[in-house]
Amino acid sequence: MKTYHVITFGCQMNERDSETIAGMLEEQGYSYTEDPKSADAVVLNTCSVRENADKRFFGVLGQLKNPHENREGMMVCVCGCMMQQQHIIDTLKAKYPWVDLVFGTHNISEFPVLFKNASREKAHIIDVLSEAGPIAEGLPAARAYGFKAFVSIMQGCNNFCSYCIVPYTRGRERSRRPEAVIEEVKELAKNGCKEIMVLGQNVNSYGRARSVAGTYCAATDEPHLDFAGLLKELNKIEGIERIRFMTSHPKDISDGLIELFKDPGHVCRQIHLPVQSGSSRVLKEMNRVYTREQYLDIVRRLRQACPDIAISTDIIVGFPGETEEDFEQTLSLVEEVRYDSAFTFIYSVRQGTPAAAREDQVPEEIKHARFGRLIEAIHRIQEEKAEKYRDAVLPVLIEGPSKTDPDMLTGHTESGRVVDLPGDPSLIGRMVKVRITKPQTFSLYGALCEEQEDR
Ligand code: 5AD
Ligand code: SF4
Repeated sequence: MKTYHVITFGCQMNERDSETIAGMLEEQGYSYTEDPKSADAVVLNTCSVRENADKRFFGVLGQLKNPHENREGMMVCVCGCMMQQQHIIDTLKAKYPWVDLVFGTHNISEFPVLFKNASREKAHIIDVLSEAGPIAEGLPAARAYGFKAFVSIMQGCNNFCSYCIVPYTRGRERSRRPEAVIEEVKELAKNGCKEIMVLGQNVNSYGRARSVAGTYCAATDEPHLDFAGLLKELNKIEGIERIRFMTSHPKDISDGLIELFKDPGHVCRQIHLPVQSGSSRVLKEMNRVYTREQYLDIVRRLRQACPDIAISTDIIVGFPGETEEDFEQTLSLVEEVRYDSAFTFIYSVRQGTPAAAREDQVPEEIKHARFGRLIEAIHRIQEEKAEKYRDAVLPVLIEGPSKTDPDMLTGHTESGRVVDLPGDPSLIGRMVKVRITKPQTFSLYGALCEEQEDR
């Protein structure tokens, strides 16, 4: 039997796309193998959000050159966000002409045909579409887990934050029909799925752009279901115990969503709300369309609706023109919000975005020094906040062996904290009660409670 391996860079949207690609290969009779170098088909699904991901991709691709040369018939395919950029295609053509198939983010549904053609004809195919078409439904998926799943509800982004490449690589925002999403989640629940992660670049504008040039869902008299409305529908699906979602753009958060947190049902009391900067001046230049004060007001309203809501964020340091005062505003916002966790990034120049053309780029050493100060504050707060979990008894969905110690199990709390605990692998996929014995900055150490509800 032929084998495949998919290597995924970047965000959860890419992980979800990779499940589709894996499903397509399985439909063609390929089975999964751990080792990319010995696989008959390798697909690299790329990310272009920061320069690091670009570099890692070329490194990993380079390592496949020898196996590809030495093994007759081995197929190396590359896809994803990087392929939507002409300068990347030019580099591939010049330096990696041996790659068998290049496709983009807009033609994943064509992958089976492209793959067959490339392998049958031993041709090197480059097929990247610059425009997105309608969202393809009904594609196969080899899901990474049975008990938890990604559910993509929309694609693309219309926001054009001035630092970000995503609107150029993933195209305009399109939402899936609510019925298709609900059907997918029902099917997942039927197959034992307990937790879903609802995905979109900007879930808060779900339903606003359901058509692409009239091709999809355009002439509809369906009632307009917004994101809060969709969550309410998903909340009704039996078997789904946890609903998470990302990413929420603060500018589009609705009163309805905040209201929903008063009585969230299966929606986890947790929200990822990227702020990017604490300075209103920088936010304006980032084209984020909210001020520091407006962001803080959203946080206040979320906490009013749901006092123990866990809030996480994304922050960029070193955006062009960021001054020491701007950065201190970010630090003070972090102290004010007291995030449960935060992803922090050093600004990375992305060719073709407005911010890349600016001449007031922040010097590397300043960016790194600010980054260090920021993560010090974030980790300190995270550690302080971990203390509230001491001796708490919490439901944890057991997801697999711990990353740090394979003899331990790992899972997440409702709030999204990692929990490590000793236990039998037969617990994987179960929601269990865990007593937290040792809270730490990045993970909580716990023990299985003796009394378990039978789930
Ligand atoms: N440089 C650094 N970080 C970036 N992000 C997006 N574009 C860039 C960039 N050019 C970050 C943002 C976003 C997250 C997914 O990646 O914080 O929320
Ligand atoms: Fe990028 Fe902004 Fe869209 Fe997020 S909302 S994907 S940061 S452009």
